[in-house]
Amino acid sequence: MDPLVKLKVSIERFTFEDDEFSLRDIHFEVRKGEGIAVLGASGAGKTTLLKLLDGLYKNYVGEILLEGQEIRTLKPREIYSKMGFLFQNPEEQLFAEIVFDDIAFGPKNMGWAKEKIEEAVKKALNMVELEGFELKGIQNLSFGQKKRVALAGLLAMGQEILLLDEPTLGLDPVLEKNFIELFLKLKRKGTTLIIATHNVDLVPYFADKVIVLSKGKMVKEGFLRPILLQAEELRQFSLRPPLIALPFMSFGKSFQEIPLTVEEAEVLLKQRILS
Ligand SMILES: Nc1ncnc2c1ncn2[C@@H]1O[C@H](COP(=O)(O)OP(=O)(O)O)[C@@H](O)[C@H]1O
Ligand SMILES: [Mg+2]
Repeated sequence: MDPLVKLKVSIERFTFEDDEFSLRDIHFEVRKGEGIAVLGASGAGKTTLLKLLDGLYKNYVGEILLEGQEIRTLKPREIYSKMGFLFQNPEEQLFAEIVFDDIAFGPKNMGWAKEKIEEAVKKALNMVELEGFELKGIQNLSFGQKKRVALAGLLAMGQEILLLDEPTLGLDPVLEKNFIELFLKLKRKGTTLIIATHNVDLVPYFADKVIVLSKGKMVKEGFLRPILLQAEELRQFSLRPPLIALPFMSFGKSFQEIPLTVEEAEVLLKQRILS
């Protein structure tokens, strides 16, 4: 087993007992430090897939290997020491009354010393731009703030693999951008990121590869450009290319390269204007 392969996923089928929805034929590998975007319309199965990867559903047909070990055979502690999961809905995740207790829960469970825990909580709150929120009541926070507290809980643990379910949902535009930068910083430190989103515009900022789900099936898997620039095909899955790419695509062959981000577009336009 290649030690750089963090997750090896081969799900033939997973069905809920009380629902006809099923996930089928999902096969991919995630290597250390990679960013993977799980894209798909609402109801496509993104959350279900992430929960499977976190070992929360066990009755699937197939194999999910975390660092070479079948996830069904691992104890919760073995899973969460390596991998953190940000729930789509922070209400499902947060349980304490005040912010500090929630973020400190994982580190306490790992048996860290008091000072180390306090420092980790403080640092994590800084990373999500909620400095000084330690003693705030969680129930009074907004959805976006709850989401940030939940993310801080993972950052305090510093797991190597993060499964993030719609991490920028409910965030203001500036904070959304700052979060993308935070993800890039984590990635540069070697953290492996698997991020479910339906925000195609943000994908190119953090993802090396993309998986597209449609009605529970993996319909695409691979590098960004060959997938994100196929407007017709994406429409079948209720998706589209990143907005910034659209005007460049409509100019046909006049641009050799189609940008996926605003920054790439700026470079191309500058070249064109200055040449
Ligand atoms: N706990 C559950 N029990 C039964 N069915 C569920 C449950 N969670 C999700 N589903 C089904 O799985 C489908 C896919 O949901 P989900 O994975 O949340 O999609 P997405 O995250 O892409 O919006 C839903 O339409 C629903 O039918
Ligand atoms: Mg979801």
